[in-house]
Amino acid sequence: MQPVTDKEMRALLKAQQGELDVVLMYNALADKARDPHDKETFRQLASEEGHHAVVFHELTGKALQPKKTKAILLPLLYSCLGRKILYPQIARFEYAAVRTYAPVAERFPTVESVKNDEKRHGDILLGLLHSDR
Ligand SMILES: [Fe+2]
Repeated sequence: MQPVTDKEMRALLKAQQGELDVVLMYNALADKARDPHDKETFRQLASEEGHHAVVFHELTGKALQPKKTKAILLPLLYSCLGRKILYPQIARFEYAAVRTYAPVAERFPTVESVKNDEKRHGDILLGLLHSDR
């Protein structure tokens, strides 16, 4: 494989940071959510995002610290907006990640499964609302 350029490394580090941050975010949402199925789902998503962070770590070789901003903000938004407004917004970020990762996955094949997971995550988030009892 060609050497990783500075620009590519910046994109990989940004992705790695984003994945680490959403591990905390989904765990914070799991703590906050009232619905037991939502809680369980957020724990699963947090775990998968942790795996994504590992995939990017393998590419960057750098250890990063997760930032708590989203983990603080999203539970507040859950309280203010409610899940029916909030979950589609989170799904939008997951779908945006699919678009961001598409060219990255062409260059770094291990990112392909990460990209596909983000699409599934968006679908799962929307599914939480559609499966309402
Ligand atoms: Fe992810």
